[in-house]
Amino acid sequence: MLKVINVVGARPNFMKIAPLIRAMDEHAEEIDHLLVHTGQHYDDKMSKFFFDDLGLPKPDIDLEVGSGSHARQTAGVMVAFEKVLLRERPHLVVVVGDVNSTMACTITAKKLGIKVAHVEAGLRSRDITMPEEINRLCTDVLADYLFTTDYIADRNLHREGVPNDKIFFVGNVMIDTLLAHKKRASQLDTYRRFGLGKHGYIVMTMHRPANVDNRDILSGILKSLKKISADIPILFPCHPRTLKMIRTFGLEKLLQPATEKGEKLLSGFFVTEPLGYLDFLNLNMNSRLVLTDSGGLQEETTVLGVPCITMRPNTERPITEELGTNHVVGNDPLAVEKKIHAILTNRNEQGKIPPRWDGKAGQRIVQVLLNQKQALGTR
Ligand code: UD1
Repeated sequence: MLKVINVVGARPNFMKIAPLIRAMDEHAEEIDHLLVHTGQHYDDKMSKFFFDDLGLPKPDIDLEVGSGSHARQTAGVMVAFEKVLLRERPHLVVVVGDVNSTMACTITAKKLGIKVAHVEAGLRSRDITMPEEINRLCTDVLADYLFTTDYIADRNLHREGVPNDKIFFVGNVMIDTLLAHKKRASQLDTYRRFGLGKHGYIVMTMHRPANVDNRDILSGILKSLKKISADIPILFPCHPRTLKMIRTFGLEKLLQPATEKGEKLLSGFFVTEPLGYLDFLNLNMNSRLVLTDSGGLQEETTVLGVPCITMRPNTERPITEELGTNHVVGNDPLAVEKKIHAILTNRNEQGKIPPRWDGKAGQRIVQVLLNQKQALGTR
């Protein structure tokens, strides 16, 4: 029996682990798996609601680490996770994505001689000021099995000297989850509840420290979007850290609370709490365009065929620009405005879906792990 610990910590991890758990369950006679939640995200709206929407099992172990500075959070996860590993002694730890929990659990496992698989390996923004880039680099240099989403990630790893037999191009688990839930999400009336018309609104998300921790940058972006929202409604499900900064900088007046009364809206800049997976997917698939600084949303819009403007100077997911509908424009309000206008006046934007973003990445990963059973120390 192969004993695996799957790790999640923050919101974008939940949709990545879901297809893996499903695929592991299909091989219950060969794989015994536990789910550890580090507790990096702890609000119901950032965590529990996703477990419900995605049908994820309740975590077997919750480390309840919570928020803190990077060092405190990372160290907290390491101390708590080490105890779990010493008790459970798994053959393999599976980490996903690039959050602090991903790196913390990788380091802890490797120092105990336990093998690590990294799902979504090889993504690089080449921007070392991003905490996620540091997490990605540390995780990939240590991991034993590197599961990649596209050929650019493979190339990055090759250039960094990772041997070919550690790299497995399997596709995109986040897209497994999107494809598995697309139909259910399309049957909801989320956008109508918010008073929005099909393809008649913009969805926005923003939470990166580089965009929200600086008053001038945050107010510059919000003011220019306020202007744009006179012509097309913008709905902004707001991350807790962004809301905190909006309040700290006294920028609340630029936004108005969204209501779910369903009155038809033709304009306005509306803010709402973070939404669950299905509601948010419904909003995205019916929007005219998505404005974001998220990583995963660049991929999801690529598959949905919805234009995406990424308010960052770079992306670790260049395939979404190369093949998809993503435009990386930085956070200069004028550049963002210009791109929004360009997209709103061009109705025919199209993209392609990258190879192996087909809903089967989770199954491919589990197949690789089963083939590696001997190398992982099981019989
Ligand atoms: C983290 C990830 C980021 C990911 C994002 C998705 C790292 C370095 N960053 O960023 O890659 O895109 O999650 O959301 O791991 N907070 C709450 N409730 C929560 C969680 C957070 O209020 O449940 C607030 C706290 O004020 C906290 C702040 O958000 O201090 C930041 O949380 P943290 O997990 O450190 O980073 P994120 O910005 O969420």
